[in-house]
Amino acid sequence: MKILGFESSCDETSVAVVADGLVLSSVVASQIKLHAEYGGVVPELATREHLRNLLPVAQSALHEAGLRPTDITGVAATRGPGLPSALMVGFRAAQSFAWVLNQPFLGIHHHEAHLYSPWIGGQPPRAEFDHFEPAISLIVSGGHTLLVHVPSEAEHVVLGSTYDDAAGECFDKAAKLVGLPYPGGPEMDRLAAQGNPSAYAFPRPLINEPNDDFSFSGLKTAVRYFLRDHPEVLEDGQKVRDMCASVQQAIVDVLVTKTLRAAARLRVGCVSGSGGVTCNRGLRGALSLACRRQGLRLRLADPSLCTDNAAMIAILAERKFLRAEPSTPWSADILPGWPLANSGSGTASPA
Ligand code: KG4
Ligand code: ZN
Repeated sequence: MKILGFESSCDETSVAVVADGLVLSSVVASQIKLHAEYGGVVPELATREHLRNLLPVAQSALHEAGLRPTDITGVAATRGPGLPSALMVGFRAAQSFAWVLNQPFLGIHHHEAHLYSPWIGGQPPRAEFDHFEPAISLIVSGGHTLLVHVPSEAEHVVLGSTYDDAAGECFDKAAKLVGLPYPGGPEMDRLAAQGNPSAYAFPRPLINEPNDDFSFSGLKTAVRYFLRDHPEVLEDGQKVRDMCASVQQAIVDVLVTKTLRAAARLRVGCVSGSGGVTCNRGLRGALSLACRRQGLRLRLADPSLCTDNAAMIAILAERKFLRAEPSTPWSADILPGWPLANSGSGTASPA
């Protein structure tokens, strides 16, 4: 099969070509610089940028793959969740491609694609589902924090999510309070690498609760009050680095503790992780150490595939086409609030 995949759920316009499990191309036009000025993603600007970039990105993806549009045998796009107007650009463009090429079309759940992206490996990247094993998967991004049981390649059960802010949002908001540019997560990661994670004690919300849910808004508030009471910290470069390391450690401790606890409870031998926050070196290191101690295998998405990309959309679509999941009807619309629990097949309907 030769699949053309589209992703436009937030602030990356991406198109990828996958052939028989191999990623032939994955082109990503990031809008980070555009939104940095506003300290967050502005939906109207994101949509216009997707409209501007989508066709050139699709042309580059086909060109890099050395294919013509008529070589494509299946088309897929992110159907949800995401920013409604942003989703619409990639979804409708992909449907039009599929219709003109007279090829099947699949609308893909964005988090289901993140969920299986740890099983894309190597250089050039290819699907490694021969190595699939039941796992507890942590999906941590700017909008979501999900703990998922993945008993088989085609099944997933959402165990928990966040009551309020996502882990990435907590990174970004704490970084903003410290005065770091948007998106703050990567900046926090960079400064934390030179700081002392035990310098300041920040709360680890819900860490001892016997459930799989998360809550990060209290931690963000703790950072705000800490800076109100200790403004001098911002005057000292080393104290800022110590603070970044301490905030990062609080987030990482919660994510790692709850993920490993779920893995022990459900007796899986593998932990997997994906989503933008999985780029965080503190999280990658802590998960790696904890899994080694508990004799668990760890599969983390390659950093290039942690953030939003169309390669994960096209790879998952190909697996679904191979499993003969029904294609998404032409009348189907985007699903901006699509819950992961309902993403099982191409025709899954919204809750
Ligand atoms: O998955 P993603 O690209 O987009 C969403 O679907 O949200 O994730 C973006 C999030 C942002 O909050 C960003 O700050 C965070 O991932 N992020 C990081 C790092 N790289 C990206 N957070 C902490 N450390 C990083 N190295
Ligand atoms: Zn994402």
